[in-house]
Amino acid sequence: MTKAARGTAELTQAFEALAAQDLDLMPQVYQRFFELRPDAEGLMQQADSSMRGRMLDQTFELLMDPDVLGPESYFRWEVTNHVSAYGVSADMYRPYFQAMGEVLAPAMGHDWTEQVARAWRVRVADLLQDLERASA
Ligand code: HEM
Repeated sequence: MTKAARGTAELTQAFEALAAQDLDLMPQVYQRFFELRPDAEGLMQQADSSMRGRMLDQTFELLMDPDVLGPESYFRWEVTNHVSAYGVSADMYRPYFQAMGEVLAPAMGHDWTEQVARAWRVRVADLLQDLERASA
C-alpha cells in the first residue's frame, strides 16, 4: 500500500457503517471546532448549514480517498483555495480534524475499534504532514 493510502480502507469501512445509522453529527463537529478555534467561527458565519454539510461530506471523502496527497492533489487545491479565498489559516486544519475525531469516536461506539482509531490517527497525520509540506 502506498503511504498516500494509509488508513483509507479501514476508514471507508467504518464510515459506511456510520452512514447506515443516519446520524447528523454536523452540529457537534462545528460546535467543537469553534470551541477549539473561536476565530474559525467568525470566518464561517456566512456558511449556512447546507454549505457546512457539503464541507463535512467533502472531508469524509478526503479521509477515504487513497489518491489525495501530493502537489497535484485535491487536498492541496482545497487548502490553497481556502487560504486565499476564505481567509482560512493552515493551522485551523488540525483542530478541525480533532473536532471530527472527538465527535466520531463516541458516536460510533463499538465500531470505533482500536484499528479504526489507529487508521484515523495515521490518516489525519498524513494529511497534516502534506499540508505542512505544501506551506513550507
Ligand atoms: C479537509 C478539510 C476541509 C475540506 C475538505 C473543506 C471543504 C470545503 C468545501 C467543499 C466548501 C464549499 C462548500 C460549498 O459551497 O459547496 C468549504 C467552504 C468553506 N470552508 Fe472548508 N473545508 C475544509 C476545512 C476548512 C477549515 C479548517 C476551515 C476553517 C475555518 C474552513 C472554512 C471554510 C469556509 C469559511 C467556507 C465557506 C466560504 C463561503 O462562505 O463561501 N474549511 N469547505
